[in-house]
Amino acid sequence: MNDTRKVVIGITGGIAAYKVPLLVRLLHKNGCEVKTVMTAAAKPLVGVEALRTLSGNPVYLDGESYYDMGHIRLSDWADVLLICPATANTIAKIACGIADNLLTTLSLSVPEEKIIVAPAMNCVMWANGATQANINILVDRGITVLPVEDGELACGVSGPGRMIGVEEIARRVLAHGGGAGESMSRLLEGKNVLISSGPTEEPIDPVRVITNKSSGKMGAALARAALSSGARVTVVSGPASEPLPAGAEVVSVRTAAEMGREMGERFGAADICVMAAAVSDYRPVNSSDTKLHRSDNKNITLELTPNPDILAKLGAAKRPDQLLVGFSLESGDDVSRAEAKMKRKNCDVMVYNRVDAALGGDSTCFTLLFADGRKESFSVMDKTEAAKIILANVINLAICN
Ligand SMILES: Cc1cc2nc3c(=O)[nH]c(=O)nc-3n(C[C@H](O)[C@H](O)[C@H](O)COP(=O)(O)O)c2cc1C
Repeated sequence: MNDTRKVVIGITGGIAAYKVPLLVRLLHKNGCEVKTVMTAAAKPLVGVEALRTLSGNPVYLDGESYYDMGHIRLSDWADVLLICPATANTIAKIACGIADNLLTTLSLSVPEEKIIVAPAMNCVMWANGATQANINILVDRGITVLPVEDGELACGVSGPGRMIGVEEIARRVLAHGGGAGESMSRLLEGKNVLISSGPTEEPIDPVRVITNKSSGKMGAALARAALSSGARVTVVSGPASEPLPAGAEVVSVRTAAEMGREMGERFGAADICVMAAAVSDYRPVNSSDTKLHRSDNKNITLELTPNPDILAKLGAAKRPDQLLVGFSLESGDDVSRAEAKMKRKNCDVMVYNRVDAALGGDSTCFTLLFADGRKESFSVMDKTEAAKIILANVINLAICN
């Protein structure tokens, strides 16, 4: 990366502070220089030594650098001030222009367009009228306020208020104001990414097939995201309507058997493999070489046999240095099938999405399931955006491996 983005992370006293060391690492890996500032309430929630080591810079604690005009030195230095997690308290102080600690004083010293706020709090605190009014004040002043997630909170209840994932925060910081780039930079430079995409077709006769509604949009979006992260990308694609990006090697297939063969041949060379294709689970036992004809309005029976499970085969062949991502399309809200599938097929990440929210359309909502038991849910978004989030999470795993 050419330009080093200088990021000050202001850490406040929210439980999500424990995630900040990972964020520091992600930003650092993406060519950012990072300094951290903590409020007194944040100090018990995150390790100062971890932050110091990962950022390679001293941690600015309240009281120490305060009387040394630390806020002015940091505001001169910073390209971006990211307040993460941002408590209801600190958001309220910024909205009112209160400057009673190093971070809030710094927030007054940095131009609003350089400030990004990642709120994190209990859902009742988030819904409170005062918090919402304060958020609106920040937005009106030109501060970027990141969304919150709806999900299980550290306090045990569920609802909107949870901080979005650190990969997504890193991506927003890198994209903020241009410069360091929209993508997770070139972190996949020299890596091979193998993606399966689109539907498959199982012939019944020369003119009829069993297929599904997959458009190949997610596979194409993943290919674009991987290319812009610097990867060499190969897409094994069934007959999809969505065009694949120039720059990706495309291997066109029709049946699940062909897709299995082509993926199997290329898997050994892949660093990351994403099975985004909607592979037909079954194929006709017998497919006719000649066109079948209607005969006296009688029913006919089509006997189907299961196709080989491509994801399971890849999972069985996976080396420790490879990452395997599967997709699990389900009819209901129950993620347990997707979790079981992830374990059975030895995947590192499983993308769970619902049939009604994902298949064929431009948008999707999804939950990422990780082999270590973590789960992150994302509300509805464009597939291009979803692909970036999925890839950012995979990159994060690759870095942490
Ligand atoms: C363990 C713990 C977790 C907390 N988590 C949050 C949180 O996620 N969001 C929040 O707004 N406040 C949270 N609080 C309350 C804040 O720490 C409290 O409002 C504090 O005054 C915030 O100070 P600061 O904004 O200067 O960091 C938490 C408090 C404790 C003790």
